[in-house]
Amino acid sequence: MAKSVKPEIRSYPDVDSLNKAAAESIVDTARAAIGEKGRFTLALSGGSTPRALYSLLASGYADQIPWASVHLFWGDERYVPKDHPESNYKTAYQTLISRLPIPPQNLHPIPIELETPEKTAASYEGRLREFFQIPKTGETSTTFDLVLLGIGEDGHTASLFSGDPVLAERGRWVAAVRAPPTYQTRQRITLTLSAINKAENVFFVVSGAAKKAVVKQILEDREVAGRLYPAAMVRPKGRVVWFLDAEAAGGS
Ligand code: 6PG
Repeated sequence: MAKSVKPEIRSYPDVDSLNKAAAESIVDTARAAIGEKGRFTLALSGGSTPRALYSLLASGYADQIPWASVHLFWGDERYVPKDHPESNYKTAYQTLISRLPIPPQNLHPIPIELETPEKTAASYEGRLREFFQIPKTGETSTTFDLVLLGIGEDGHTASLFSGDPVLAERGRWVAAVRAPPTYQTRQRITLTLSAINKAENVFFVVSGAAKKAVVKQILEDREVAGRLYPAAMVRPKGRVVWFLDAEAAGGS
């Protein structure tokens, strides 16, 4: 596998300046992709951190991206209805999708309406492979132009948790997994490292002192962290940028 590039680390005084910088980088990445390929494929992260970023994109940067050329995917989803408080789709709909002119056919949510998590994962895998397949050759060397990721205090990212056998998955792009017992919604669907590491760009957006320790371990001890934390196993051929506020970066 091609050697991954060293991550770029960008830290900001507070969460507002963090989100502004991340939004501007998303705009730049989107415009470059659309300029080059006529489309921008973005996999959204879940959880609570990106809510403010998505709201900012929908308000302050709405006219800076040709949204009709944007395709939205999800890096992971909880196996709950789309109107459930824990749904990552619901978060994105409320903060971003409902406020922007994104054509419905450009929305590619994880199909949690299917009767089992395994069928949901298999269906999403098929959709991704069809979407990213290079016509004629059928190869799928790269996936998303940009994958947005968060990180848990335990070093998980998307719904990839330490010790899960799915971390060794090299073929499949999507898997049904169960989060550790400490998590409210355990049944989840997630992109595998194989899919994430085929992305052109990966942005981690992390804020808050609670993440400081794990961020420090990941960024300062890549070797050890790379064996422990799924977030440290994200090593695409493309660019990785960590957007951190001062608290997550270990500042005051
Ligand atoms: C999810 C996310 C997950 C999230 C981290 C951080 O579905 O929960 O994809 O990986 O990014 O758990 O969550 P917070 O932003 O809420 O701290």
